[in-house]
Amino acid sequence: MKCSLILTAIMICLNSISISAQLTLKQAAENKNKYIGTILNINFFNGENGTNETAYRTIANKEFNAFVAENNFKSGFLLRGNNQTTSNDLLNLTIADINTSNLNKLMDWGTANNSIVRGHVLIWHSGLPTWFEAIASNWNDAEIRQFSAKYIELVMSYCRDYPGGNVDEWDVINEIISDNNPANYRQTYSNNGQNVDVWFKNVAISAGGQGYQSFIDFCFTTAKAIDPIPKLYYNDYNIEVYNRNQNSKNGFLRNMVKGMVERGIPIDGVGLQGHFVSGTMSQTQVDKVSLTMDYIIGLKEGMQSLITELDLRICGNESNLSTQAQEYERILEMALSKKNSPGLVFWGFTDKYSWIPQFFDGCDDALLFNRNFSEKPSYAGVLNGINKVTTPTAQSPFNNSPFIINNNDTTVIPFTEFDNGGSGIAYFDDTKGQETNGTFRANENVDIAGSIVGFTEAGEWMEYTINVINAGVYDLTLNTTSEFAGKANFSINGNNISGTINTPNTGSFSTNYTNTTIPIPLEAGEQILRFTVEQGPINLQNISFNFNNTLAIVDLEPELEEQLELKLYPIPFKESFVITLETFKEAKLFKIFDLSGKMVYTQKHDGENIAEINPIGLQSGIYILSVDYKNEETGIFKILKN
Ligand code: G3I
Repeated sequence: MKCSLILTAIMICLNSISISAQLTLKQAAENKNKYIGTILNINFFNGENGTNETAYRTIANKEFNAFVAENNFKSGFLLRGNNQTTSNDLLNLTIADINTSNLNKLMDWGTANNSIVRGHVLIWHSGLPTWFEAIASNWNDAEIRQFSAKYIELVMSYCRDYPGGNVDEWDVINEIISDNNPANYRQTYSNNGQNVDVWFKNVAISAGGQGYQSFIDFCFTTAKAIDPIPKLYYNDYNIEVYNRNQNSKNGFLRNMVKGMVERGIPIDGVGLQGHFVSGTMSQTQVDKVSLTMDYIIGLKEGMQSLITELDLRICGNESNLSTQAQEYERILEMALSKKNSPGLVFWGFTDKYSWIPQFFDGCDDALLFNRNFSEKPSYAGVLNGINKVTTPTAQSPFNNSPFIINNNDTTVIPFTEFDNGGSGIAYFDDTKGQETNGTFRANENVDIAGSIVGFTEAGEWMEYTINVINAGVYDLTLNTTSEFAGKANFSINGNNISGTINTPNTGSFSTNYTNTTIPIPLEAGEQILRFTVEQGPINLQNISFNFNNTLAIVDLEPELEEQLELKLYPIPFKESFVITLETFKEAKLFKIFDLSGKMVYTQKHDGENIAEINPIGLQSGIYILSVDYKNEETGIFKILKN
């Protein structure tokens, strides 16, 4: 009797230890400075539709600190029925046409629970009111943009000004890439087994097929202008697993977002939905998702990569609950260990309410709690994964101090001495493994073979912290070999400073390291130099810098630019650029010089206040444009050809 009492006491004691030691998901995530989110179906717990799920509400509140509406933010739920619209005119929407109570409920919940709120979604081909498509499919480009801009403005500004809460992240566009191979912008989708044109398809037709990209840019730019604070995301599925093939959906996504970043479109992140099939998420597969996240994060400073709709469906006997738990663990550990991956969102938490059985025959059990709201093995997997999360290493120079560049000495940077910080931070390398089994930096994915970096491919990059003591033009020499002609460039803070550099076919990958020298301008100060391969494979040995005594940086004085009201765009240019001369129509001649001072192009001014300069046959690189005015003044501008 006595013994069993003691035993009971010990058990109670052990029990309370383990209870107090086990963190909830959101507590564990908060310890790692991350959030953990879920869809929330408000209708389940406020008594609407005859449901009042106390357990649902309790778990949502206890376990999660980020929320997204499964459906309530979609236009099908926000746009009142056509016969009920106040304006009865989709092209002249007013806030009275928007069912704002759907927005209020999630924002209120977010505020009450001190949580992140995701806004899903502004522009989507699906999730529409049934009557919408019949009207919208007749719109031309201008009408599509008019509706979209108004809709974005009404919904976003309402949330921006809502006194009870706000939206932290918006999915501005969802699923605009097709599942075709080759992938492209989506023109149709399957609705109840029927192939239906998407309602904004005419933006593609109106601009010779190129209209989609400008429509996407337009939506993001519009959204940023309405509210500059929330993060703006592009969100999609089947883009998660890295695929080198540019025609794949992943390849298309990467090029699309890269283009947006290069055009300066205000995109803050990419949402990787993460609707995975359990049994397929091996470590190798998760590593490929990791690579996609690294690619996205590497696109610009602060760019975010987020898993937005995670679930792992079990289909037939293809997997089981314990395999699923391991898969969840490795996905959580990987995704939350990323820089600029602020959290992770699940597409639900209980199998009682999941989209899976309705959409995938024979699949179910995708989430963390069963139909009775009890934890499944997947819950422990997720918790373990969060607890294993590590903080990424901050970027730093390889030898702890930057490479010094001055006007006296030759600075040699071995390509192998790229910065510390790892994948997505100091480099991006999507070809697996090292060319030799060397031990030098063996845990980095960059392909180091002895003293060189080998077989670098298009899209791969490495960064080097440099400290420029003397601003000026430097001769930058690349030392490379390849059995192919290659292309590469250098950038600083996202600005391409070299244009495309052509590297030679040296006849062999292993011998005949050959120099390619180009002049590049460098500002003084510590900065991060990025080397990007545009066309490979190239084997790389050294970068060296020598001050160029004969060239100086020629830049337009800001005052002069203002005085002349003169604009050049686009710079860098591909084939031609435009120069506007609002008040100075008196220019008579445009001349272009290369950096050695040789004149490579001239064009007479025809007297209009906009001139298109079309310097045929110019190699990529930096040039000086000189504008001769009739009043004998000369304007000097630095231009960059890509
Ligand atoms: O509200 C109607 C109801 O009145 C009607 O009786 C019933 C009959 O089927 O349908 C109800 O609408 C359904 C709606 O969910 C709300 O339950 C739609 O048919 C159904 O198609 C819709 O499915 C949603 C789907 O998006 C399409 O919007 C799913 O719940 C939702 O989980 C799913 O979420 C998407 C993300 O937005 C984007 N990423 C993929 C993800 C999963 O498909």
